[in-house]
Amino acid sequence: MVDKPVIGMIILVNAIAAGVLYQRFHDLPQFQLLESKLLEVYHRLLPPKTPDRCGALKWPAYVLVSDRVVFPDGVRPGAVYIEGSRIVEVSENVTVDSPHVMNFKHAVISPGVIDVHIHLNEPGRVEWEGITNGTVAAAAGGVTTVVDMPLNSDPVTTDRTQLEAKKALAQAKAYTNVGFWAGLVPANAANHSALEELVAGGALGFKSFMCNSGINDFAAVEAEHIAAALPFLKRRGVPFYVHAEVVTPVEADPSADPTRYTTYMATRPPKFEQDAIRLLVQLMDADSSPAAPGFSVHVAHLADAGALDIIREAQSRGHPLTVETCAHYLTFASEDIPDGATQFKCAPPLRDAANKQSLISAVASGAINLVSSDHSPAPPSLKETDSGDFLRAWGGISGVQYLLPATWTAVREAGVDLRGLARLLSEAPARLAGLGGRKGRLAPGYDADLVIWEPETRANTSVALNLHTHKLSPYTDTPLYGKVLATVVGGELTALFGNVNKRPCGKLVLGRGANE
Ligand SMILES: *[C@@H]1O[C@H](CO)[C@@H](O)[C@H](O)[C@H]1NC(C)=O
Ligand SMILES: *[C@@H]1O[C@H](CO)[C@@H](O)[C@H](O)[C@H]1NC(C)=O
Ligand SMILES: *[C@@H]1O[C@H](CO)[C@@H](O)[C@H](O)[C@H]1NC(C)=O
Ligand SMILES: *[C@@H]1O[C@H](CO)[C@@H](O)[C@H](O)[C@H]1NC(C)=O
Ligand SMILES: [Zn+2]
Repeated sequence: MVDKPVIGMIILVNAIAAGVLYQRFHDLPQFQLLESKLLEVYHRLLPPKTPDRCGALKWPAYVLVSDRVVFPDGVRPGAVYIEGSRIVEVSENVTVDSPHVMNFKHAVISPGVIDVHIHLNEPGRVEWEGITNGTVAAAAGGVTTVVDMPLNSDPVTTDRTQLEAKKALAQAKAYTNVGFWAGLVPANAANHSALEELVAGGALGFKSFMCNSGINDFAAVEAEHIAAALPFLKRRGVPFYVHAEVVTPVEADPSADPTRYTTYMATRPPKFEQDAIRLLVQLMDADSSPAAPGFSVHVAHLADAGALDIIREAQSRGHPLTVETCAHYLTFASEDIPDGATQFKCAPPLRDAANKQSLISAVASGAINLVSSDHSPAPPSLKETDSGDFLRAWGGISGVQYLLPATWTAVREAGVDLRGLARLLSEAPARLAGLGGRKGRLAPGYDADLVIWEPETRANTSVALNLHTHKLSPYTDTPLYGKVLATVVGGELTALFGNVNKRPCGKLVLGRGANE
């Protein structure tokens, strides 16, 4: 029998310990208190406290060891040697002659997740999401690099001044690495010097909408605009990232209940995606200008598995057409969406369970190149949480923190292993963004962006641990596998057991255009 003051004391001590851990990683002995079964971290390895510098790990060099390291050619026991912000060596010899070793034992060391589709909305709409919360949530979820969309910030990123403003903000605030897509809109599509200014500023490529974007100052492109821009994009070797839906009138039942998901789903049929992708292929067929390596037409967030045939056919004729889907299309199906649950609204819409299975198979077979989050939250008022009206609610799903566990949970049943997952979430995204020589692999010379995680353990998807600005997310309480233990961004231990370093240490990720 332990008396109450003693229990109170134990609770107090543990609360203080947790608080200290939350405040600074420097107090590493707490690791052993909290997760002793996972980690061998020795007291003598404590990095010196230098709070004025970025990051918690101050060793100039250190080594991460585990039984399961995801090497480019397979998963084996190994050691990853890090110096500064780079990986200098990877080895299968786990006997390491260094005082600075963290052995994660059976946890997996994977290349950090690269989310090429995220809306940080800063500047201008931080009340939707911002660089701080967006990248903190990303880091907690094992994402080490995000590539920000040119909307829904205000202003949008369609000229050099706007790009420079975003670069300055990200440099000051980001917890993960951040790159940028620039906007390709009717106003700049035919102006190749305007596009060149964005490439020279370090934009990784261009994003367009083939339908209304929902944002007035980001207009949709028509075929003529795409045709005018293609020769530039090809010559410059940068990707053209497209929201591929062509919206045409559909017969709608005016009496249909707007709080039912199917009412919304019926307004954006698969035909919209198929028509848009067909048009893109026609435009590629029609343009015979030379293409430099790095160019691709990239279909954003494919929701309709039926459109894959069109993509396959174009690829078989040599077109550099790539395609992504999002974790939510692999996780949720329309049949399961409750009435009024507008957190599930996005465009193109989530479709039925059979379609979801086809998408998962396509991801597993490699027919879909990569998976992104399309993290795009909005305040509850815009999500119409009170009325539950799907037709009026803003379309956008909040989920960057869950990209890794949601994708893993969906694809592992289809036979994708840890190596295959790294292809989908790190290697292929890096290649799309033109970063294939620097990011996306655990290999010497690559940036030290890593995630250490337990694929067999459940992620905690409770609201309490959701770090997004808005907690409304379809992933809440969804059973997902894949618990992130630690996230290393550019050599900095940025997240550990769900706590994120207090200093933003992310770096800008600029395209090669910035160095020419
Ligand atoms: C592994 O590394 C240790 C420490 O550097 C070294 O002593 C040992 O010989 C190496 N083993 C093999 C098989 O290379
Ligand atoms: C093209 O863009 C450049 C750079 O933004 C601008 O100075 C120029 O006026 C534009 N040309 C046309 C025809 O709009
Ligand atoms: C998830 O985390 C919350 C907050 O720490 C905790 O209360 C809850 O018990 C956790 N859930 C699970 C299933 O571990
Ligand atoms: C981050 O999210 C928290 C919790 O939702 C919110 O209170 C805060 O205002 C957000 N911070 C910024 C900078 O938007
Ligand atoms: Zn998007």
